[in-house]
Amino acid sequence: VLITQGRYVASAVKKEQYPETERPEIVFIGRSNVGKSSLINSLTRVRNLARVSAQPGKTQTINFYEVGLKWREEERRKIFYLVDLPGYGYARTGKEQRKIWAKFIEEYLLTSPRLLFVCQLIDIRHEPMASDCDMFQWLVEHHIPVLVVATKADKIGKNARQKNIAQIRRRFGVPDLSVLPYSSLKNEGRSDLLDVIGDSLIE
Ligand code: GTP
Ligand code: MG
Repeated sequence: VLITQGRYVASAVKKEQYPETERPEIVFIGRSNVGKSSLINSLTRVRNLARVSAQPGKTQTINFYEVGLKWREEERRKIFYLVDLPGYGYARTGKEQRKIWAKFIEEYLLTSPRLLFVCQLIDIRHEPMASDCDMFQWLVEHHIPVLVVATKADKIGKNARQKNIAQIRRRFGVPDLSVLPYSSLKNEGRSDLLDVIGDSLIE
């Protein structure tokens, strides 16, 4: 499958600000700095579409990007949203801010009518933290389909990679969990993720 377009459409912290056109949505969730915004840029191949920073806490709103997808050698096309979220587990914004954050993200995740699945991003170098396990659990409990993506795969060697993916499965308590390694730097994992997205868009 091929990406035909990617453009920013809206930022929201409440329902009234969601885009007016309803489209299927794929959402990126994960700790601050794990690489959510970078992955959106890599996937769409639109440089600086989502704002990236070395400083955690860059993304502060729910950001909707309209993306077009086309199947090779077919007329079929789909338009959908990639949705970038603020990171969780980042303390520097202070307790009060975090509470508000959790509430508007939760409202979005629980009420969005066309959410296809959530990509939960985990930094492949580190063992998942309590907040990662809590988030995974929460998504499962609320019957939200989740695909685990292990980011920054360029930063470790192949052996460590397998070992760390096994650790994610163990920590999440799902022995056969599929974990997709991804590198936004090298666009590794891009065609695999696009295939998953393409499949999810065919109903
Ligand atoms: P918040 O918006 O703060 O929640 O962060 P985020 O999850 O959107 O992370 P972002 O995409 O802004 O990336 C954070 C940092 O990690 C930046 O310095 C990126 O350049 C770096 N980064 C992201 N993905 C990769 C990757 O695949 N490989 C490498 N080497 N660095 C990456
Ligand atoms: Mg971000």
